Amino acid sequence: MVKKYTCVFISGQGTNLNNLIKKSRDYSFPIKIKLVISNNKNASGLKFAKKNSIPILIIDTKKKNFESMTLLNLKKYKISLICLAGFMKILSKKFINLYRKKIINIHPSLLPKFKGLNTFRRVIEKNEKKTGCSVHYVNEKLDGGKIITQKSFFVNSTDNEISLRRKTQKLEYFAFPEAIIKIYRNINF
Ligand code: GRF
Repeated sequence: MVKKYTCVFISGQGTNLNNLIKKSRDYSFPIKIKLVISNNKNASGLKFAKKNSIPILIIDTKKKNFESMTLLNLKKYKISLICLAGFMKILSKKFINLYRKKIINIHPSLLPKFKGLNTFRRVIEKNEKKTGCSVHYVNEKLDGGKIITQKSFFVNSTDNEISLRRKTQKLEYFAFPEAIIKIYRNINF
């Protein structure tokens, strides 16, 4: 199978990155991770790229040319899918337009509910009965693109921010791979 070359963007612990690396070892999983990009040189998730000999690019988002540097590298590695997995920077409209329908993000809520940060705290404050995660295409609106996959669970009275994070992340490890399979299901490799 010819796999789609993929770049994963991270800023932190990278457990979704690690999960996608593991999944992509399966010959029938449609992507191969060719590059990991981080805006944080200390992101602990970079260890997963190193362990698996995946090239890493550290970008400095304070520098004007960070998107052109990124674009150059995406071309160099022939990237056709970008997975944002805990990437804490907003990409420009220009960048998003160049990779329209090719950038997907995982978000820890049932979008369109709780866009942005601090989702778990807000879920508790609002006494939500259900929460979960969403994988969606990225467009110029924050957490606003078309939803590809969602997974949910019931919130119970003993849940707190920590337990919600743990339960949500467990679901994310199913949702992200499932979304990727869904995207490529109808394409012949
Ligand atoms: C995930 O919960 C994801 O939904 C959010 O950032 C977190 C990243 O976690 N966008 P990790 O770095 O993959 O462990």
